[in-house]
Amino acid sequence: MAAFSTTANTATAADERVNPLREGLRMQRTAPPCTMVIFGASGDLTKRKLMPALYALARMQRLAPNFHVIGVAISDWSDDTFRQHMRAGVEQFASPNDQLADGGDAASWASFASRLQYVAGNFDDPALYTKLGATLRALPGGDNVLFYLAIPPSLIATIGDQLARAGLNQVSPKGWTRIIVEKPFGRDLASARSLNQALHRVFDEEQIFRIDHYLGKETVRNIIVFRFANGIFEPIWNRRYIDHVQITVAESIGIERRGKYYEEAGALRDMVQNHLLQVLAVVAMEAPVRFEAGPVRDEKVKVISSIRPLLPAGAASHEVCAVRGQYGPGFVGGEPVAGYRDEANVAADSSRETFVALKLGIENWRWAGVPFYLRSGKRLPKRVSEVAIRFKSPPFLMFQDLIPGTGDTAIAANVLVIRIQPDEGISLRFEAKVPGTDMRLRPVKMDFQYGTSFGEPQPEAYETLLLDAMLGDGMLFARYDMVETAWALTTPLLEAWEQFPAPEFPNYAAGSWGPGAADEFIRRDGREWRRP
Ligand code: BG6
Repeated sequence: MAAFSTTANTATAADERVNPLREGLRMQRTAPPCTMVIFGASGDLTKRKLMPALYALARMQRLAPNFHVIGVAISDWSDDTFRQHMRAGVEQFASPNDQLADGGDAASWASFASRLQYVAGNFDDPALYTKLGATLRALPGGDNVLFYLAIPPSLIATIGDQLARAGLNQVSPKGWTRIIVEKPFGRDLASARSLNQALHRVFDEEQIFRIDHYLGKETVRNIIVFRFANGIFEPIWNRRYIDHVQITVAESIGIERRGKYYEEAGALRDMVQNHLLQVLAVVAMEAPVRFEAGPVRDEKVKVISSIRPLLPAGAASHEVCAVRGQYGPGFVGGEPVAGYRDEANVAADSSRETFVALKLGIENWRWAGVPFYLRSGKRLPKRVSEVAIRFKSPPFLMFQDLIPGTGDTAIAANVLVIRIQPDEGISLRFEAKVPGTDMRLRPVKMDFQYGTSFGEPQPEAYETLLLDAMLGDGMLFARYDMVETAWALTTPLLEAWEQFPAPEFPNYAAGSWGPGAADEFIRRDGREWRRP
């Protein structure tokens, strides 16, 4: 396929770097003095994601000089042990720019590490919260507090209640107190509701930040800019011009030592209820009245609540709208890999799905009749997340008569692909005439790539999200009603699947594009999955 490419005007990019107004905007994106308290500080998330993100923010001077971290966990660690573990995490998981290569960055790490402290204790022990309160009040940035719950959902209510009992749900009248809650946010509608109630007993909604790291990805954030900062896309972003939309989040990894969690969750809970529906919301929502957290989140809730129920009353079978799969042994990247049932902490007859494909219909004036196909799976051939908008074919194709052999099928429809990861960018496929005296057509691509156009490294999602939470901007976090609406949509399907375990599991080989049933599912509509 031929390719055109776009590059940002480099003069403009250079001007932007020195433009004082722009600099001013950047300055506003610096966090106020605050202390972040991480519950679950000895866990995987803290060292893989949170610490590398905080260290990157510190290096970019986005944190105030008196920013502090208090790690909280059951392990009997000293401040120094905590710092050593966090250093190991940053060395292993930070992006290449922030690597602590050979101690070469010792000074910047030392300055960051001096802001880390540790408090050991049991999450249900009131003494922990007394100690925590005293530690917080002794810190200069202690009036503004950001709690981060990097713990299993079963502990959320306990920690919330204990914080309230110790008066830490509003640590100081002079500052703010906020709480970030990790996913999974519940395991169905009822549990999500009771989690929301438990949090609302203790915190106002404005204090609660439910994290979904897909919303912090640059490419997902760019969808809203692409749609609403350009005049040419919105007029065709509807049922008159769009045939269907495919949202794919494919992973080549398996469940990676998370058998216990995954047996409880499965792909629908782990990926679709949150990440894929959030992406769908940004792609399909109406223009918000303002670019602010409230109006943007209103529109997202509206569009998710316009989705036709997955199992309408009287539906013969859940197979109408969904396909599930589970990987068996196979090959990924040329290496043999185990099947799901052979992973640690997974039942030998597990009926947990590792692949989901869904067909969703949005019942509103913009989207009536335009299917949204969603799919996500583990152990697929490659890691790729994208949104593909396939436009309708021209109403009349004159070329098939003009050139023998150029039938309908030879003309590829226009497809706009938003590549979320890797190779982040946007491309548009369209037909062009092949140069020559004959009349031959071939699809070509207009391609925008972040890497070549901007040449600046993209921040990790957690960097953006942590900074936003410190600044009190909830736009990229899920509001309680969004979480509940997404669970209201997915819970009936989860229940149907639990009631009817899939006898055919495992039904796809690791390294393939999922079960054959997923191909038949979309083919029934006369369409094909993309093979990105
Ligand atoms: C997490 C899921 O939320 O997202 C994981 O729990 C999944 O199972 C991960 O692997 C994917 O995130 P990313 O950013 O690698 O696409």
